[in-house]
Amino acid sequence: MEIIANVTEGVLKKAAKALKDGHLVAFPTETVYGLGANATNETAVARIYSVKGRPADHPLIVHISSINKINEWAVDIPEYALKLARDFWPGPMTLILKRSELAKNFITGGQDNVGLRVPNQPVALALLSEFESLGGLGVAAPSANRFGAVSPTTATAVSDEIGKFLNTGDLIIDDGPCHIGIESTILDCTGSHPVILRPGSISIDLVKNKTGLKILKREMKNKNKIKTSGLLDFHYSPEAEVVLGTTAGVGDGFLAMSNIPTPAGSIRLGSPETIDDYAKNLYSSLRLADAKKLPRISVQMPGGEGLAEAIRDRLQKASGKKVENDHA
Ligand code: TXA
Ligand code: MG
Repeated sequence: MEIIANVTEGVLKKAAKALKDGHLVAFPTETVYGLGANATNETAVARIYSVKGRPADHPLIVHISSINKINEWAVDIPEYALKLARDFWPGPMTLILKRSELAKNFITGGQDNVGLRVPNQPVALALLSEFESLGGLGVAAPSANRFGAVSPTTATAVSDEIGKFLNTGDLIIDDGPCHIGIESTILDCTGSHPVILRPGSISIDLVKNKTGLKILKREMKNKNKIKTSGLLDFHYSPEAEVVLGTTAGVGDGFLAMSNIPTPAGSIRLGSPETIDDYAKNLYSSLRLADAKKLPRISVQMPGGEGLAEAIRDRLQKASGKKVENDHA
């Protein structure tokens, strides 16, 4: 495995060829780093599952370079989904659509739908275009972490998470820290209205304001219908125990907005000034606690709507708390 930091055109060509040849390429997106494989190569995709330690029935998101490729992977696309794609791609939004024949069971976890996303990150987009120019059709990429662990937002975090499972020929592309820091919003577009499965920086209100579309929240009784690993009750977890909204004890990690003082004896892991900052540094703060071998992290969650809701969703899952309203 090789980590490449100076991303030139030659590097993109090499990475695209590596994907085409069946290797894994970890690459940055605007949300988190993804672990990419050729989405039509079953053997390459199987390696994603083994490197991540992920159960085989959890579907992968297929990354494409533009909305023009949507019809290759999906069929019977509702008009509202096309509108979402037009308005928010490239961007941190994944659409779940009825799959085409191209999206095999090894991508969809055996489901009849496929997750698609056009990431808004120059290196990711250039890599996808280069891959498509070699005849590739899409890059399957989950977050580049072990199953259930914290998503990586830097190349170093990718290497710490999965480096030892990568082989000769696999690559990690380093293009600095991810800008958003938490995973894409996932919208189920297989019914008459879009339904939010995972909150992200594209919020229900943002969609409403920009498109007029109403996004429904998922009904808990339907929770098991769609398999989404982010919907498990324990996910995005560091080694340290995550405790919400409590005062930190001596030797515990502490994460809160910058205006909240550090409890005596605890170790400050982050002091975000804004909600954007909170999201961007959330996972590196959680990782810092593990690097320092702290037993516990006490987290004061941010208040507010939009991105703050997505942060709370991840923190609640990291804490292993059952979230009654986890579509919020
Ligand atoms: O921001 C992101 O979405 C990042 C970057 C790399 O693009 N990717 C990401 O992938 O977070 P992953 O696999 O870690 O999380 C995607 C979630 C999983 O929980 C998966 O089960 C769900 O999306 N998903 C993917 N395809 C699906 C499908 N066809 N139906 C339902 N859920 C799906
Ligand atoms: Mg993930």
